[in-house]
Order: sequence, then structure tokens, then C-alpha cells
Amino acid sequence: MRLAVLTGGGDCAGLNAAIRAVVRTADHRLGETVIGYRNGWNGITEGLRDVLDPEAVRGVLTHGGTMLGASRSHRSLAEAGPDPLIAQLQKDGVDALVAIGGDGTLMTTCMLHEAGFPVVALPKTIDNDVEGTDVSIGFDTALTVATDAVDRLHTTAQSHDRLMVLEVMGRHAGHLAAGSGVSGGAAAILVPEQPFDIDEIAARLLRRHRLMGRSASIVVVAEGASPRPGTVALPPPRYDEWGKPVVGGMGALCSEWLAERTGFEIRTTVLGHIQRGGRPTAADRFIASRLGSRAADLLIDGVSGYLVGVAGAGIGLSPLNEVAGRTRLLSHEELAMLDPLTTAGPPGP
Ligand code: F6P
Repeated sequence: MRLAVLTGGGDCAGLNAAIRAVVRTADHRLGETVIGYRNGWNGITEGLRDVLDPEAVRGVLTHGGTMLGASRSHRSLAEAGPDPLIAQLQKDGVDALVAIGGDGTLMTTCMLHEAGFPVVALPKTIDNDVEGTDVSIGFDTALTVATDAVDRLHTTAQSHDRLMVLEVMGRHAGHLAAGSGVSGGAAAILVPEQPFDIDEIAARLLRRHRLMGRSASIVVVAEGASPRPGTVALPPPRYDEWGKPVVGGMGALCSEWLAERTGFEIRTTVLGHIQRGGRPTAADRFIASRLGSRAADLLIDGVSGYLVGVAGAGIGLSPLNEVAGRTRLLSHEELAMLDPLTTAGPPGP
């Protein structure tokens, strides 16, 4: 039996640990090498593949990014349907595929499953918004980086008595913003799940300033956060080839709006791809290794069509057709804690 593995969508830390686990498990159980497709699904259509044995994945645990390369799926891939991909996989002698990715990758993996090709998917995205898993590969590293950024901004904010706005990634879900903002002690956290009222945020910061006698505060803004409709004028939206809104720039807009309303000196930091790069944390390496190993085990045992995710302290399987295309948002409990943990004192004038 021959397994293949690919990493689709944007990269993140921890992917190499997952690839290594697939390769080592296949070697251990089958005595077989694994085909590694390069640059996501393009590797299948363009014939870009490596033969991976345990030697090929030696030393990769600590490396960020993906040794296989990654790329975002294009609309043409979905439009072409599963047949060209399956035909090529069969031609390459592949019996089953482990696809590691986020929303786009899961949709394509589900398409292959529904066409009868054996697949399992592993969740990865620093946004942590894949449905069917408590945590995605790459999130812990990005959260560590974003929290470190909040910590660093605190010291310079205090030295200059400035308000610091930090824009973190998170298109549809505020896991990174909530995680880093709460862990770093931000004064306000703006997430996509809950449209914000900039007047209310400004009032809160002014009140904090009055109570504490200083304006040094951190506001964490998820790139996908948006103001409550009708509260402020927004630039015209831009859309990608899938018709999804292009995000980015909300940190700078918030700084502008807050400066007008508070008169505070404000600086903006956009953390961007720094959150995606660099050495994976131990938690990401461990989770990715466990998921990669289980993915290979399942396919070798003839089980297919699942997302292999984290469920509590264990591993949980979710049918691909139930999770592909869905987004895991912040829970009510997580949303409810944001105000108490960021607002100074009881509600005031
Ligand atoms: O992978 C998710 C993500 O990191 C988002 O948070 C972000 O909006 C996007 O990727 C950036 O994508 P790209 O690297 O293609 O610009």
C-alpha cells in the first residue's frame, strides 16, 4: 500500500511534524515510502512529487513552514472536479492520501472522498477555525508569537504612554485575537464574531485613562473584525477569486477612529505573516505528530473520509462531509469573557 501526503492552503508551524509522522508510521507499519506532493494540490496536477523515507524527514521537527511547499487552491481545481486528481493519484500508484490543510483543502479532500478515493484530512490553520477539532496545527505557535507581541507592545506603550493597536490574523474567527489579547492583558479585543462599536471602545479607553491616569493600553484587532453596521464609514470591500472579502487594514482604521475620538497618541502594528513563520512550539509538534500518526494508521487500516482532529485530551474523527466548509467560531463562553477581562472597573459613565 502506498500513502501520499500534501500540505494545502497557507503554511504554518508544525506541518513538518505531521508529514514526518505520516512517513514514519508508513515506514513502521508497511515498510513503504510515502509520496510527498509539492505545493499542495498543484503537486498532483503538475507532477511535482518527492519520495519520502525516514531519512528525508530527519531533523524536520523543529523547522517552520512545510518541507513540501504549499499553495492556495484555485477555483479551477474545484471546477475540474475529482476525476483529474484521482486519475493522477492512481497513475502515481497512490492508494490513499493524507491532506493537511484548512477550509479549501478540506473541501477538495471531501470531494475526493465522495468520489470514492481513500483520504483523511488533518486540520491546520493559525486561525484555529476548522470545525471538527478543538485546535488546529499551527495555532499554538501563532498564539505564542501574538502574545509575545502584546507583551512587547506593553513595555513600549508604557514608556511613551501610548495606545497601541495590534492587528493579528483571523479572517472569520477571533481565536488568535482572543487568545493573545486575554493572555497579554489587552484593554480591548475586537473579533469577527462580534461587530464592535468604536465609540464604545473609545469611551472605555477614555474611562480607563481617567481611572488609571494613563493612556498606555493595548487594543488587539483581528483582521476580520468589523464595526457595527452604520457606525463608521468603511472603504469599499474587495473580494478574492472565491468571492470572499479580502481582509487586512482594520488595525489602521481602528487607530484612526480611536485617535479622532480619544486624542491619544496611537501606534499601529500589523503582525502579519510573522505569526505563520518560525519554529513550531512543542505543543504544535506534539499535536501534529499525534494527528499525522493517526491519519496514516487509519488509512492503512482501511478507514477513510474523516477529519482527524483534537477532541479534549484525545483524538476525534469527524466525517469530512460534516465539517468541510464550516467555520469554528469563538464559543459563547469565550465571547462572554472578553468584556470582563478587558474592561477596567464596573460600567461607568
Ligand atoms: O491561513 C490563514 C491566514 O493566515 C489568515 O489568517 C490570513 O488572512 C491569510 O491566511 C493570509 O493568507 P496569504 O498568506 O495567502 O496572504
